[in-house]
Amino acid sequence: MNNLGQKVIYQIYPKSFYDSNGDGVGDIPGIIQKLDYIKKLNVDMIWFNPFFVSPQNDNGYDIADYYKIDPRFGTMADFEELVKKLKEINVGVMLDMVLNHCSTENIWFKKALAGDEKYRKFFYLRKAKPDGSLPNNWQSKFGGPAWAKFGDTDYYYLHLYDPTQADLDWHNPEVRKELFKVINFWRSKGVHGFRFDVINVTGKAEKLIDSTDPVEEKSLYTDTPVVHKYLKEMNAATFGQDPDSVTVGEMSSTTIPNSIEYSKPSEHELSMVFTFHHLKVDYKDGQKWTKTPFDFMKLKKLFTEWQEKMDQGGGWNALFWNNHDQPWALNRFGDTGKYREKSAEMLATATHLMRGTPYIYMGEEIGMMDPHYSSMKNYVDVEAKNAYQELLQEGKSQEEAFEIVKTKARDNSRVPMHWNDEKYAGFSQVKPWLMPTDQDKINVENELTHGEIFDYYQKLIKLRKSEKLISDGHIKMFLKDDPQIFAYARYLDDSDHKLLVFTNFYGEGCCAELPKEYQNKKYKVLISNYDEQSDKLDALISLKPYEVLAVVID
Ligand code: NOJ
Repeated sequence: MNNLGQKVIYQIYPKSFYDSNGDGVGDIPGIIQKLDYIKKLNVDMIWFNPFFVSPQNDNGYDIADYYKIDPRFGTMADFEELVKKLKEINVGVMLDMVLNHCSTENIWFKKALAGDEKYRKFFYLRKAKPDGSLPNNWQSKFGGPAWAKFGDTDYYYLHLYDPTQADLDWHNPEVRKELFKVINFWRSKGVHGFRFDVINVTGKAEKLIDSTDPVEEKSLYTDTPVVHKYLKEMNAATFGQDPDSVTVGEMSSTTIPNSIEYSKPSEHELSMVFTFHHLKVDYKDGQKWTKTPFDFMKLKKLFTEWQEKMDQGGGWNALFWNNHDQPWALNRFGDTGKYREKSAEMLATATHLMRGTPYIYMGEEIGMMDPHYSSMKNYVDVEAKNAYQELLQEGKSQEEAFEIVKTKARDNSRVPMHWNDEKYAGFSQVKPWLMPTDQDKINVENELTHGEIFDYYQKLIKLRKSEKLISDGHIKMFLKDDPQIFAYARYLDDSDHKLLVFTNFYGEGCCAELPKEYQNKKYKVLISNYDEQSDKLDALISLKPYEVLAVVID
């Protein structure tokens, strides 16, 4: 498994990392200029969000040419230099493969529109129902119907996302062949890592029938058995031939049994899965565009189920709080005020010491948080704009709708990286595509001179490489009913040698009785975000606000 358990992956959203050419948009030469910073973290691989040619209707997840770098991000020569420079510091490249859909600007879609039979079969083209209504009642994940008119024809094409992102018909072997060619092209450039965008929706039901409710609707195109077949085929035809490959599938609304199959080495599908259940614990009635505090007990239950069952089944999780689709975890599960640093460290520990591969989203290591925008004009994401309109249509006032968008918009984490306290946060010399806020306090320069979060992340990353209990250990949760503490044990065998991790998710101190087996044990502190005094666990554990304590007992 090429030491998967020891790896830590950093995510860069290229549009927002560093603008080297003064156009307000980040670029590949900009990333190259910041490699010294990345080197300090000692991560193993970097996942780059898509920088292929794209009209950017969904910020690069609408690919018009899979083989070219979009000029706004640089050239192929820049990319090759990036791979080379990263290799020199022992960091691999993970590319984002958006293979469920392509842009309607893609040559495949254009040829289909021009009537080329071969390419018409690349897409889901269906006629309206006899009554003139759309081919089925599926909804796009970005709002509105999932069908759009196919040029001037009688047909409609399926788009589970934006109308400019046409779903590719994976049932057609020609499509799979073309997509596997794309992966192999990038492998030939020295790429060993691949993140597969919404890969578990590629096996739509053969008959695209109407759904009776939203849950059933998802089941008509999510996690169908054929997805496993396609992944095995993709693995054999591409990265499976590379012993150094690291792959992750973004699995929308998936299940544990499916995730085990997706990520168990003997299944030859992927190395690991991104799942999102733990990031829906602040959705009211399962709806994203709502505002409600997070449900801690639900969060614990989800972590417990996913961690323990994936362990028992031999699957492998990607561990993360943040990415380019999520508002900052610090705003959702931590404290953006008095305990910003302590809560950032607590959240990092909770995931980094679990079983799986941790991902750090750029800016997380300096404690970045949601921007303070005051108007819808500040937001650019198609999803946020659609959601705002839908909330108004549902009868919400402009203020109510805005409050919700503010807490849920994907733009929150897409704000440019704060390098220093300048007007544009040292990201660019000109007005960036999204404006930073709070850079006067939270920025790389400040963090590296007087902050404690970055330093703490460095320690966590180092520990994963040196402690077998972290990289290889099994996991078992305890204190399951405690309303404030999330705790787990990592172990390699039946012996007493264990790593115990305690995290206090709240801004008040707390205390709990330890399970008998851990009482009165001598320990060695692996990491903590407060100064520790004792070297022994008593019958009780007490934790300060957002305190973390990770100890090894024998
Ligand atoms: C998931 C990506 O992370 C997100 O940014 C994108 O909008 C959708 N997939 C569609 O590609």
